Amino acid sequence: MLTNINPTETEVWKRLQEHFYATKSFEIKEHFKTDAERADRFSIHWKDFYVDYSKNRISQETMDLLLELATEMNLKENIQKYFDGDIINETEGREVLHTALREKENAKVYVDGKNIIPEIYEVKQKIKQFSNAIISGTKKGHTEKAFTDVVNIGIGGSDLGPAMVTEALLHYKNHLNVHFVSNVDGDHVQEVIKNLNPETTLFVIVSKTFTTQETLTNAMTIRKWFLTHASEEAVAKHFVAVSTNLEKIQEFGIASENVFPMWNWVGGRFSLWSAVGLSISLATGYDNFDKLLAGANDMDAHFKNTEFDQNIPVVLALLSIWYNNFYGAESEAIIPYTQYLHRFSAYLQQGIMESNGKSVDRKGNRVNYETGTLIWGEPGTNSQHAFFQLIHQGTKLIPADFIGYVHSLKNDKDHHEKLMANYFAQTEALLNGKTKEEVLAELKSSGMEASQIEKLLPYKIFEGNKPTNTILIDKLTPKSLGALIALYEHKIFVQGVIWNIFSYDQWGVELGKQLATKILKDIKGDEIAKHDASTANLLRFFKKNRK
Ligand code: F6P
Repeated sequence: MLTNINPTETEVWKRLQEHFYATKSFEIKEHFKTDAERADRFSIHWKDFYVDYSKNRISQETMDLLLELATEMNLKENIQKYFDGDIINETEGREVLHTALREKENAKVYVDGKNIIPEIYEVKQKIKQFSNAIISGTKKGHTEKAFTDVVNIGIGGSDLGPAMVTEALLHYKNHLNVHFVSNVDGDHVQEVIKNLNPETTLFVIVSKTFTTQETLTNAMTIRKWFLTHASEEAVAKHFVAVSTNLEKIQEFGIASENVFPMWNWVGGRFSLWSAVGLSISLATGYDNFDKLLAGANDMDAHFKNTEFDQNIPVVLALLSIWYNNFYGAESEAIIPYTQYLHRFSAYLQQGIMESNGKSVDRKGNRVNYETGTLIWGEPGTNSQHAFFQLIHQGTKLIPADFIGYVHSLKNDKDHHEKLMANYFAQTEALLNGKTKEEVLAELKSSGMEASQIEKLLPYKIFEGNKPTNTILIDKLTPKSLGALIALYEHKIFVQGVIWNIFSYDQWGVELGKQLATKILKDIKGDEIAKHDASTANLLRFFKKNRK
């Protein structure tokens, strides 16, 4: 069990509050002027990562207080519990052991007294053999043709992780075309299957529970479509499943050799490291999948063993708490300067918001402080031409993570230099802004008339002082991607510990699932059960007007 402390009742929280009031007009750029060491002091070099967090509204005193908060909240002890497989997902009575999935083969991690590493490696072996056979074409479809396409059928964690990673690793991809069907919207599945050849397509049904309405509906629709082209026996050659629910898989008719098990101690949104990542292994080859896991394992070791002031997930989590709980910032932007990471913030939305979107603490009481941050973002430079205006000149404080790479993958120097010029320019502009004097000088030198200058002046001033973290990585490789994902996973953990909430359940989502099942009966049947007047009217309108 994790420790159970209300953070606002710690002694250091009060000091943080006082410190905030005393320094809230903090000007980051002023500190750069007086502190020559600032950029070096507030940055961390780790393997191929360079994390600069000096462009934040922090002084050494702020960091010392935040680090003290981590200590007062027993973070060290709690990290140990997380890795050791304590039941930290208390409301579901489960361990949280996605970290075990990327452990080295000689490691030992116990669940109910049994070392789970050999089982994990058995499944990894199965993933490897299966991926190799499909990629090489030795394993064929029912008409003896090699596979050309793979369809991952899943939703939430059974979709977002594999979908994000296969996009991120596009550069490393082989000849297999990988598709994702997630939404229960029938138009989604029809759009995906319309151009597929059932003779050369492999379907991977991914559902931890194998009870998720969306996934089962899509799987049944695809199975029906498949059977209009092939016989029942052919199903065994074209459908595989990843799940903990072996009984339900059998009911669906999937051959036992086509089942890739996973475990209850892996949360859906942290499951891409398990057989849920099968489509990653199929798309990029098992070796790349394994490197992804190795990168995450490196980050695990860093997180577990590094002093907090040099610990990337800990520092980023504490900064996020500083803005969320003291400055009242509500959201955080994640801006990767690589098109390959275009699904990264969508992926993190589930990881972060499903985990820390909680309002009841570990004692069962309503929290009296803010928790979970809103996460959003799009790749730079596109995002600069979309929502950056609001970050620069809007009224909201939006801390942002800028993720960039020293090397591009296709080695186009000119493009990469332009991309990175924007990456550095944006964080610098967000820091410095543009003062009245600078704008005046600029407008004067453009030859503008004084009356016009006076009119335009207020609109052209940028306050600056917008906090950013710069995560500069050598190259987007499977390994560095694994480490980057694990970094954010551990940031989630640290924030959950400090906010004293349960990060690993998702009862809010379960409620939606139950209600949809109930309303489906109203839609399909003649009667409409009791609802609020608005919902009842909408249902009546929908039923009356559809053909
Ligand atoms: O969205 C809620 C959720 O329970 C997620 O946590 C999970 O990733 C997703 O549904 C899919 O669940 P399953 O893998 O069991 O189909």
